[in-house]
Amino acid sequence: MGLFDDMLKDSESLFLNPEQLDFDFQPKLVPYRESEQGYIASCIRPLLQNRNGKNLLIFGNPGVGKTVCLKHVLNELEEYDEVYKIYINCWKKDTTHKMALSICEQIDYKWVHNKTTDELFKEIKNILNKKTAVFVMDEADKLTEIDGIYYILEDIYKKTVFFITNDKDWLINLDSRLRSRLTLEELGFKSYNLEQTKGILRKRIEYGFVKDVWEQKAFELIAKKAYELGDIRAGLFLLREAGNIAEDGSSKKIILEHSENAIKKLDDYKTKNTNDFEDDVNDILKLIKSNSGKTITEIYDIYKKDNEISYKTFKRKISKLVEDNIITAENAISDKGGKTLVLNYSSIKKLDEF
Ligand SMILES: Nc1ncnc2c1ncn2[C@@H]1O[C@H](COP(=O)(O)OP(=O)(O)OP(=O)(O)O)[C@@H](O)[C@H]1O
Ligand SMILES: [Mg+2]
Repeated sequence: MGLFDDMLKDSESLFLNPEQLDFDFQPKLVPYRESEQGYIASCIRPLLQNRNGKNLLIFGNPGVGKTVCLKHVLNELEEYDEVYKIYINCWKKDTTHKMALSICEQIDYKWVHNKTTDELFKEIKNILNKKTAVFVMDEADKLTEIDGIYYILEDIYKKTVFFITNDKDWLINLDSRLRSRLTLEELGFKSYNLEQTKGILRKRIEYGFVKDVWEQKAFELIAKKAYELGDIRAGLFLLREAGNIAEDGSSKKIILEHSENAIKKLDDYKTKNTNDFEDDVNDILKLIKSNSGKTITEIYDIYKKDNEISYKTFKRKISKLVEDNIITAENAISDKGGKTLVLNYSSIKKLDEF
């Protein structure tokens, strides 16, 4: 064997279809969630007979397949023209106006300019009530305004609304008027067991990587870690990282050591897909990452140099990031002796508690 036989050439890659490892990649099938999908479908079924459907609160920890499952069901509905399918990421579309614009876009209604939120919802009502509609309100607890839910509940006659959240208590904390209007059944998504975690990750490897580049032990370690964290997204992150580390070392195989080193990088992993954030939140996150350990006012001072933003709004955005374990904030005493918060990018502490 030559000296360089086990080394990857410049033009070679261990990855075949790296997009298979993207957090928002939609696989053709969503195994191990058949019963959940069956239940979800049963809530929609009345719409196909032109009757009103059932509303559902779907909850579970990050990375347990809630979004991928609901998107799969919407895809399956594609052939049913009598149903409008609307997916809203409430984190991105957190105000009633943004929600209205997103619905308009999805139903191909283009005359949105200069229209008030009220006017937009009137148009939406006219269009949607000609057929039936399924709404998926993903990350529902991130809504900063809830009027959009009122509009949908009151104005759309034949519909099914799915609310997805990590925080089951979101419903309890909702406005009581709204709560009484929402007759919600509940569907919890449990974390996958070890075998299921392996099954899902193995499929991604099959399509995402060149055949036979994964050493069994290296794969087992990552699958186990993803299982412990209860988060498939963390598993996908680790698969990609291990692949990158192996490639950087020009290795033709991904071995245990690469997986171990990938796990050391878990600090960089976020429980959420940061593409879901607005651009400004992403900028704030980057800033926190490069200034971990600084206080909230110090980070605000840097941020406001290039951005017009009040401290109140900045603080609200920080609170959301903390709530979702993207960053941590710990009480501290500032140089001037007052109370402050120290921000840190790492979220892994929280993850390990699962
Ligand atoms: N059963 C499954 N089959 C294939 N891929 C899956 C399955 N479950 C989860 N995944 C993958 O794991 C990742 C996380 O899943 P998903 O985005 O649906 O999580 P989630 O429950 O919506 O999490 P969050 O609450 O953080 O939004 C996605 O990349 C998804 O494709
Ligand atoms: Mg999700």
